[in-house]
Amino acid sequence: MTITSAATLIDGNALSRQLRSEVASRTAVLKQKGITPGLAVVLVGENPASQVYVRNKVKACQESGLHSVLEQHPASMTESALLALVDTLNNDPSIHGILVQLPLPAHIDAQKVIESISPTKDVDGFHVNSAGALMVGQPGFWPCTPYGCMKMLESIGFELKGKHAVVIGRSNIVGKPMALMLLQKNATVTICHSGTKDLKAMTLQADVIVAAVGKVNVLTADMVKPGAVVIDVGMNRNAEGKLCGDVDFAGVSQVASHITPVPGGVGPMTITMLLVNTLEAAERVAVGA
Ligand code: GUN
Repeated sequence: MTITSAATLIDGNALSRQLRSEVASRTAVLKQKGITPGLAVVLVGENPASQVYVRNKVKACQESGLHSVLEQHPASMTESALLALVDTLNNDPSIHGILVQLPLPAHIDAQKVIESISPTKDVDGFHVNSAGALMVGQPGFWPCTPYGCMKMLESIGFELKGKHAVVIGRSNIVGKPMALMLLQKNATVTICHSGTKDLKAMTLQADVIVAAVGKVNVLTADMVKPGAVVIDVGMNRNAEGKLCGDVDFAGVSQVASHITPVPGGVGPMTITMLLVNTLEAAERVAVGA
């Protein structure tokens, strides 16, 4: 079966290549000043998906000329040992960004660990300082996935001012920061979630829809206004085991003006924005900010 796609694809791989080459050039400039941006990635336990994610993050650093350290520890690592490791990394001048891969084993308080990361090195943007800075429009670090979504909208020249944006999902990592970023660009923002009574009534009003719930087919063609822009943050496996997003791509791509594919959409952008944040952290050190 051939699927005729009416919507233009927003290609996360192509945009990532462009942004990562900019990261590489800025990194080269910084290196001439004697500073190599450094990222520490901390993995506790043997979660297979996390192992793939951290390997990809370290590889991306190497490809753009950043220094990276992978700290791999067994699931039995104690919370206090992890807090001590973060403290060491906080005080290591060769490290500008610290990422503790989530989820952490159940015996470790993830929020406590996140709050132990120096806000100047919080390249994941998960620290309450980073969340607060985003909320009041102060400089900080934006969480990588919604930041990547904003870059995708920017790449197609989408003017958010006065547009209606509907975010499906209210997680601290994607939905909530996404809504704040859209708001900062003067969109009218609606956040929908599992308690929303009539999701379709909301999404039909949207000029841009960001789906970030982690459920297959949350958004189908009948729920999308013709010409809307659709960003799919989902990363799921369908009944056949195939990687797919939250959006019914085949149907929605007949209605939307632009759509992100899964894979090859938001996924690569998340790592790209991690590189951008790490570089930014190092640049702030370089200028003494
Ligand atoms: N687990 C899944 N995605 C992420 C992410 O972006 N950052 C961290 N720290 N953990 C994750």
